[in-house]
Amino acid sequence: MSDDAQDFVPPYPKPLAEKPGWWRLWREGQRCPLRVFTGSAYRMKLGESGFLSRKRYLLVEPSLVKKVLEDREGIYPKSVLVRRMLYPVIGNSIFVSNGDVWQRQRRLLEPAFAQTRIQAVFERMNEAVDDMIARISTVRDGEVFDVEPEMTHVTADVIFRTICSVSLDQSGAKETYEAFLEYQARAYGDMLLGLLRMPTFLSPRWWRAKKAARRIRAVMDPMVRHRYDMHARGEHGGYNDILSAMLNATDTQSGEHLHFEYDELVEQIAMLFLAGHETSAAALSWALYLIAAHPEIQERMYRETVDVLGTRAPQFSDMRRLALTRNVFRETLRLYPSVPFFARDATRTEIMRKKVIKPGSILLLCPWLSHRSEIMWQKPHVFDPDRFEREETQESVRDAYFPFSFGPRVCLGAAFALQEATLILAAIVRDFHLETIADDTPEPVARATLRSSGGTRLRITRRAAD
Ligand code: HEM
Repeated sequence: MSDDAQDFVPPYPKPLAEKPGWWRLWREGQRCPLRVFTGSAYRMKLGESGFLSRKRYLLVEPSLVKKVLEDREGIYPKSVLVRRMLYPVIGNSIFVSNGDVWQRQRRLLEPAFAQTRIQAVFERMNEAVDDMIARISTVRDGEVFDVEPEMTHVTADVIFRTICSVSLDQSGAKETYEAFLEYQARAYGDMLLGLLRMPTFLSPRWWRAKKAARRIRAVMDPMVRHRYDMHARGEHGGYNDILSAMLNATDTQSGEHLHFEYDELVEQIAMLFLAGHETSAAALSWALYLIAAHPEIQERMYRETVDVLGTRAPQFSDMRRLALTRNVFRETLRLYPSVPFFARDATRTEIMRKKVIKPGSILLLCPWLSHRSEIMWQKPHVFDPDRFEREETQESVRDAYFPFSFGPRVCLGAAFALQEATLILAAIVRDFHLETIADDTPEPVARATLRSSGGTRLRITRRAAD
């Protein structure tokens, strides 16, 4: 489907004219896996690559995606590839575990992310957002500002404050955050090697990642130990954060009081830091770019925040009234899903669209392609937040929109992330006017999360109150 001249098509890698040869596939894939797609990939239902039993399948057809993500029998477990990559920091925690271990962890963690809990941490999120506004206010009017580091800072701060009531500026928190950045930069660089089934331990990056992982654990240990020991002594300490919900976890099925062993608890917390700030930071940076590039949407968002919030601090009940702000974030996640690919392993022989899929094959789910499928979406590359309000889009949303995955392993932090993003975007748009910079368009690069290749610079001006 063609896009009208007035439609805004934000940047995405130009599809290749023809299927690339091996050398080009490797070279472009190293730069960014999204660069190897041809135009027909955006109409694809099932893609295949690799050799013999070492095959990879890219699932785009909704019925195939559904079959894999709604699996409740463990036929398509989380890929060992991802587990291997993340093990040094998050051990066998919920993000990578499978089977009974995963089921128990999920039952223990779910109450900590229930709606009431998200409401309970609203004020802590708000405090982090206030500090973000104070930091942005130090930027001189009209100056060019890279929003990515700030989005990483505020989302890490939100995670620290909501999980263990510590702000990012306190020592320990900062050290952990820097070690995480180091770890991600190293470990994910090797994800591609793993996908191609090449040994990652040969790579120097892998050893540096392991060193960063030890640094993270060394800082995180005393922080969690203090709270764990307090809990063991029966002291509550007046905390009302996610860690206290985890320490008081009750099995959601049996109602029994169960608890995480100490090492397991540290791993779950490290996992929440890893899963919970980088994803939100990536999406928020793209959202700010899209808002800056679309002045009409920016103006409507500004009006919405002024109508709903005026100049006062946001309340939990305001969240559902910031409908356009929420739709801008949902549309951002459609165009730039923070997790552009994720993997499952095939454990038995299957036929999918006449292809025989052998055990040991890697099944790749790809929100990037599903969200831009020309079969499933009208004008798929156009930024159009209002599409979520139109009746005709409901089927596409139901069948081909899954930035948080779906099924039993749906993202545990989806409601948390939506609340956080709505607060951050509303606060920025209410106080500042954003503009893009000529000849400085961010280029999407898929690593573990979908970032822009060289940062996201915008011109930022404080709004005069009207
Ligand atoms: C925009 C923000 C976010 C996006 C786009 C996102 C996306 C995802 C996706 C796609 C998965 C499934 C991955 C897979 O199956 O391999 C996932 C899982 C998960 N996410 Fe998120 N996430 C976000 C924010 C968060 C936050 C804020 C938290 C917690 C504070 C969180 C915690 C988790 C956990 C614990 C899982 C594993 C669930 C399980 O396997 O049972 N995420 N997320």
